[in-house]
Amino acid sequence: INAAAKVFREQSDAIIIIGIGGSYLGARAVIEALAPEKINKEIFFAGHNICGEYLHNLINVLKDKDVSINAISKSGTTTEPALAFRILKEFMEDKYSKEEIKKRIVCTTDAEKGALRGIADREGYKSFIIPDAIGGRFSVLTSVGLFPIACAALNIKELIAGAREERKISLELDLQKNNSYRYAACRNILYKKKKTIEILASFESRLHFVSEWWKQLFGESEGKGGRSIFPASCDFSTDLHSMGQLIQDGERNVFETFLIVGNEKIKTVIPHDEENIDNLNYLSGKTLDFVNRKAYEATREAHYEGGVPNCTLLFPEVSEFTMGQLIYFFEKAVSVSAYMKGVNPFNQPGVEAYKQKMFKLLGKP
Ligand code: PA5
Repeated sequence: INAAAKVFREQSDAIIIIGIGGSYLGARAVIEALAPEKINKEIFFAGHNICGEYLHNLINVLKDKDVSINAISKSGTTTEPALAFRILKEFMEDKYSKEEIKKRIVCTTDAEKGALRGIADREGYKSFIIPDAIGGRFSVLTSVGLFPIACAALNIKELIAGAREERKISLELDLQKNNSYRYAACRNILYKKKKTIEILASFESRLHFVSEWWKQLFGESEGKGGRSIFPASCDFSTDLHSMGQLIQDGERNVFETFLIVGNEKIKTVIPHDEENIDNLNYLSGKTLDFVNRKAYEATREAHYEGGVPNCTLLFPEVSEFTMGQLIYFFEKAVSVSAYMKGVNPFNQPGVEAYKQKMFKLLGKP
């Protein structure tokens, strides 16, 4: 994976990751969490919507760049990434020779089944195989996530090392030491107390896609058989100005999980201003992180007093290692949590219903 990613990085100004749901959210979560310090190439995402304007604008941006593409689809037949791949493949064919394209397209898909496998084999594209037994939302630590993450010049060995470390902790039988069991148990106690909405709240904009990945992981794994905790997310302090009222004072069916970073490396210091017209001199010399931390402490307390129970997951720092830990932690926790509700975390029968209707409307043969 690292060798193939190195080739992609060296030959490209821009790398496009095509995929949807479990086939892109994990990679995006890690890449965006660790940006901007480490990314030295432009990474773009496609195939996660059916929005014509998005793809049109993306192609405009790519026109004068050297481009490589990783198309990811386990089934190989999902409509959104298949459409994006068809359009971007045509863009590549206008730009490069057949031989050159073979170096610039990598497919990640099933070993045998699906249209993407068929295209990769026919065109002679390099491919990575998605292990059969691993569902999309659990696949970030396979080639599905690792190749795009390596393309962003991030250290995938550290990511795996972090996951391994967390696995050890998750094998502890003592509930006090086993983080994922504790989290799963707390969620289910709260669920029994009619807390049916969980908000994953972070105060770091770079963790936005961690929440997006988490929502799929928990929503698709647990939401079955009439039982579910609705996984929602907020980016604080931004969303305190839009959702704060409801959380503080709306129906008391919410609990919160804060994702907090212990030690931010970048320190933005608030300057002193002689005139002090904005009355902010009481913060002169302090960092924005200091203020952000106080915003978290205040929110945690205010929401708790308003009847919103909460817990905090404290990241010592955001690194490949801790991201690996976090991924394993959540994957283990959701599995245990779903079994505690009596549902199978590893299937998703409900997502087929809308697809059948859409295909009928589109006249799919
Ligand atoms: O977790 C899942 O199963 C889904 O989110 C899939 O990952 C998503 O629908 C994409 O499927 P595929 O990889 O087959 O294109």
